[in-house]
Amino acid sequence: MGHSKYTRTTVTAALPYANGPVHIGHLAGCYLPADIYVRFLRLNKSDVLFISGSDEHGVPITIKAKKEGITPQQVVDKYHKLMQEAFTEFGISFDIYSRTSSPTHYKTASDFFKTLYDKGVFSEETTMQYYDETAGQFLADRYIVGTCPICDNDQAYGDQCERCGSSLNATDLKNPHSVLSGSTPILKETKNWFLPLDKLSPKILDYIEQHKNWKSNVYGQCKSWLMTGDGLQPRAMTRDLDWGVQVPVKGAEGKVLYVWFDAPIGYISATKEYTQNTGKPDSWKDWWQKEDTRLIHFIGKDNIVFHCIIFPAMLMEHGQYILPDNVPANEFLNLEGDKISTSRNWAVWLHEYLQDFKEMQDVLRYTLCSNLPETKDNDFTWSDFQSKNNNELLAILGNFINRTLVLTHKYFEGKVPAPGELHDIDKLALKELTETPIKIAESIEKFRFREALNELMNLARSGNKYLAETEPWKIFGKDNDRVATILYVSLQITAGLAVASEPFLPFSSKKIYAMLNMSQKDWTMLHQHLLDHGHLIEQPSLLFGKIEDEQIAKQIEKLKSSKTNNQILPDMKPVVAQKSETTFDDFCKMDIRTGTIIEAEKVPKTEKLLKLKIDTGVDVRTVVSGIAQFYEPQNIIGQKVGILVNLAPRKIKGIESQGMILMAENSHGELCFIVPEKDFNNGSVIK
Ligand code: MF3
Ligand code: ZN
Repeated sequence: MGHSKYTRTTVTAALPYANGPVHIGHLAGCYLPADIYVRFLRLNKSDVLFISGSDEHGVPITIKAKKEGITPQQVVDKYHKLMQEAFTEFGISFDIYSRTSSPTHYKTASDFFKTLYDKGVFSEETTMQYYDETAGQFLADRYIVGTCPICDNDQAYGDQCERCGSSLNATDLKNPHSVLSGSTPILKETKNWFLPLDKLSPKILDYIEQHKNWKSNVYGQCKSWLMTGDGLQPRAMTRDLDWGVQVPVKGAEGKVLYVWFDAPIGYISATKEYTQNTGKPDSWKDWWQKEDTRLIHFIGKDNIVFHCIIFPAMLMEHGQYILPDNVPANEFLNLEGDKISTSRNWAVWLHEYLQDFKEMQDVLRYTLCSNLPETKDNDFTWSDFQSKNNNELLAILGNFINRTLVLTHKYFEGKVPAPGELHDIDKLALKELTETPIKIAESIEKFRFREALNELMNLARSGNKYLAETEPWKIFGKDNDRVATILYVSLQITAGLAVASEPFLPFSSKKIYAMLNMSQKDWTMLHQHLLDHGHLIEQPSLLFGKIEDEQIAKQIEKLKSSKTNNQILPDMKPVVAQKSETTFDDFCKMDIRTGTIIEAEKVPKTEKLLKLKIDTGVDVRTVVSGIAQFYEPQNIIGQKVGILVNLAPRKIKGIESQGMILMAENSHGELCFIVPEKDFNNGSVIK
C-alpha cells in the first residue's frame, strides 16, 4: 500500500468540544473522511486504530455552562453522551471515543507536562495578561475578542483568529474586549509557563520541510507562519482558570493546562484506555512510540496550527514519540450559502436529521462525501441532497442492484447462473470491476474522498449501461445462455459494489451483502469472481427511496424558521461596555412612565424618524423617535411603551419632541421597545 516503512496506522479525528450537539459541518470536516479512511484500511487488513473523544476543557465549555446556568461538568456530561450517540448512529467507527475528563487523561496530560518541565523545556515568565475587573478573572483564549493584527477580523479570539488561521496571544489583539462583560480589560501580572516556539522554530521548520507531500492548504499555512513576520512566538501552556487539568508544578496552584496543551494528549490517553480494555495495557506504546507506526490526524482547517506545529513541538521535546506523518485538514462546509453556526442555530443537527430521514444515514454520508470541502469551502444544500438521493443513489446504484437481483429471481430462481462464453462487452464490464477498486484505493490514499466516491458510482453507472446495452429481458426465452452470462456479470459487479461501498455507505453495503447472502470479503478479494454459480441469493428490497419536494421544502422551512438572530456567546460581538458609575439620586431624577402610541407617521425627508403621539397618562404629547428603520407607522398604533417624560423638550427637524421612548439596542444596532409585561394603565411610574 505504498507506505512500506509502516506496519500500523494510528488515525485520530479531532476531539470535538463537548459544548453542543453534532452537526453536518463536524461530519464533513473530519469524522466522515477519517471514517472512510479507516474502514478502507481495515478492509485491506491493515493494522489501524481509530481514536477520538470529547474535548471537555477550555473556555468553550465554561462559556456554555454560564449561558445554560449549569456547571461545566454538567455541560460536558450532557454533550459527551449526545455526541457519542450521534457518531455511533452515523457509523463513525471509532475504536474508542473517550473524553478528556477521564482519570487516565488527567494523569497522562499532567505527566506529559511534568516531563517537559523537568527537561527544562518551558520558560517560566511573569507577564502582563488581560484581566476583567468586572468578572474578577483573567481573560484568555475565547474569553477575549478583538481585532486580528494580521487580517483585521474584528472577531478574533485571544488565542486564534479563525478567519486567517493565525495563532495569537491575547496581547496581540487590537481593541480587546471581554466576552464576559464587554468591558475593556486591564493588564495584570501573572506567572505562566511558555513553550519557546521561537527557539524551536528551526526544528519545526525542518519537520515541515520533510512533509511537502501534505495537502497544499496545510503545508502552505505552516510555511507562512514559520516564515512571515517575526515567525513563531513563545506560547503560554498554562492558564489562570479553574476548569481544566491542574498544572503539576509548585507555585502553579489555581492554574490549569492550556486546553490546546491537554486536548491533543487526549489522543494518547484514549489509546491507553483502549489498550487497557483489551488486556494489553502497555501496547498503547506501539501506536505512539514505534517508528513503524504512521500517525495521521484528521482535522478541520482551524486546527492546523495546533496539529502541525504546537503538538509536534510538544512531541519532539518530550522525545519518546513519533510525529504526525500527515494532517489531512479540510476547509469548512457551509449550509445553504451561509456559515454553519451553533449560536445562530444555522445547522443540520444529526439527531434531528434522523427523526425526519429515518435509517437514511447513508444518504447524508453520500451527500456530504460528494461535497467534502477538501480543497476549498463548500456548500450543503437540501436540494442537492434531494438530487444526490434521487438521481444518483436511487437512479444509479439502487436501480442497478435492484434490476440485477429481480432478474436473477425471475429467470434463475435466485441462483447465480453459470456464465457462457464471454463477449467483448462482458469482458469490458468485468474489467471495470477489476480497475475500479484500484482507482478508489489510489484516491483514498491521497485523501481524495470525493474522487474515490465518484469512482465507486462510475462502477454502478457502467453496470447500468451494461444492462441497458445487453437488454437481457429482451432475449430471455430466445437465448437463455446469454441471459445467464449477463446476469452472472451483473451479479459480480453487484458483489463488488457491496465490498467497495463499505467505507462510504456502510449501512447500504451491509444490506447488499445480506441480499446477496454473501460472506464478508476484503478489498484484496475484489476481483470478478466473488459469487460462485449456483449460489442462492435472498429476495431484494429497495436500498433507497425517493425524496419528495415537500420533504425538502419542510427542511428548508425548518432551517429558516429556527434561525435565531439573537447572537449568543461566544459568537456575539462584544456588548457595549458598562458606563461609569451613577447615583441613586441621579436615577430618581428621571420620570419614566408607561404609555401608549396613539398616532404615528414618518417625518418627511428623513429615513430614521417617526413622529409619534403618546398617551402618557399625564397627557398626550408628541415625541420624535429614531425608529423608522425598524417599525412601519401603521403597525405600532396601540403599542405600549416606556417613556421618559421629564426630558427637556428638543426641536428635531422642526418638530418639538416632548420626551423619549425607551428602546433596547442589540449588538447589530437593531432597536426594540421596552414594554410593561402586564397591561398596566398609562402613566404608571417605571422605577
Ligand atoms: N476541540 C477542538 C475543536 O473543536 C479540537 C481539539 S483537537 C485535539 O476545535 F487535538 F486537541 F484533540
Ligand atoms: Zn486573522
